Amino acid sequence: MQFEIDGKDKDRAYKLLSTLVTPRPIAWVTTVNETGLINAAPYSFFNVFGTKPPIVAFAPGNRSSGKPKDTAANIESTGEFVVNLVDEAIAEAMHLTSASEPSEVNELDAAGLETRASDKVRPPRIANAPVSMECTVHDSLIIGENRLVIGYVHVLHVRDGVLDPDTLHLNAEAYPVIGRMFGSGYTKTRERFDIELP
Ligand SMILES: Cc1cc2nc3c(=O)[nH]c(=O)nc-3n(C[C@H](O)[C@H](O)[C@H](O)COP(=O)(O)O)c2cc1C
Repeated sequence: MQFEIDGKDKDRAYKLLSTLVTPRPIAWVTTVNETGLINAAPYSFFNVFGTKPPIVAFAPGNRSSGKPKDTAANIESTGEFVVNLVDEAIAEAMHLTSASEPSEVNELDAAGLETRASDKVRPPRIANAPVSMECTVHDSLIIGENRLVIGYVHVLHVRDGVLDPDTLHLNAEAYPVIGRMFGSGYTKTRERFDIELP
């Protein structure tokens, strides 16, 4: 099969790309608005794009009304966010926070989740997340209807037990991170394999 997703098949681009480009990591993004109210929502158009300096990017689209989602609006007014990564234990709570709540609702309270103060940015991190990254906005690009938020990572928090403190080798058992598949589908990542360098 072949699709012209920049032309006659452009209305199928979301379905095709989000079905096929999987599994995707999930950024569970915490932000605050100008009055300090906390917001949390998951974004799987997300990845890390470099380490010198450490750069991540994710893509919060607009609501069907054309207004930016709360995450994007908060980032635009504060320039700060935290990317929390998601393991199996917090998958359902993460999914709950994708509900489209009014901006005055703190989704983390609704999902029964605790936060910890960040070191360098105002948005807190999610206490139960295995990894959290404190970020400031490096740039924000609008490409058609897409918004690409590029973040500079300042502080990386990793739960005790996930990494060997001397070698930084991953303890895979302690890090059952999940990935996004299409629709409301997710995947576990416990079944891994190694390929030695050629
Ligand atoms: C696993 C998952 C991944 C998602 N990824 C995205 C994404 O990459 N971009 C996007 O605009 N919405 C994405 N969504 C939908 C948003 O989470 C949803 O619109 C949410 O209500 C936005 O909340 P906010 O207004 O508090 O930012 C995703 C939802 C889920 C459950």
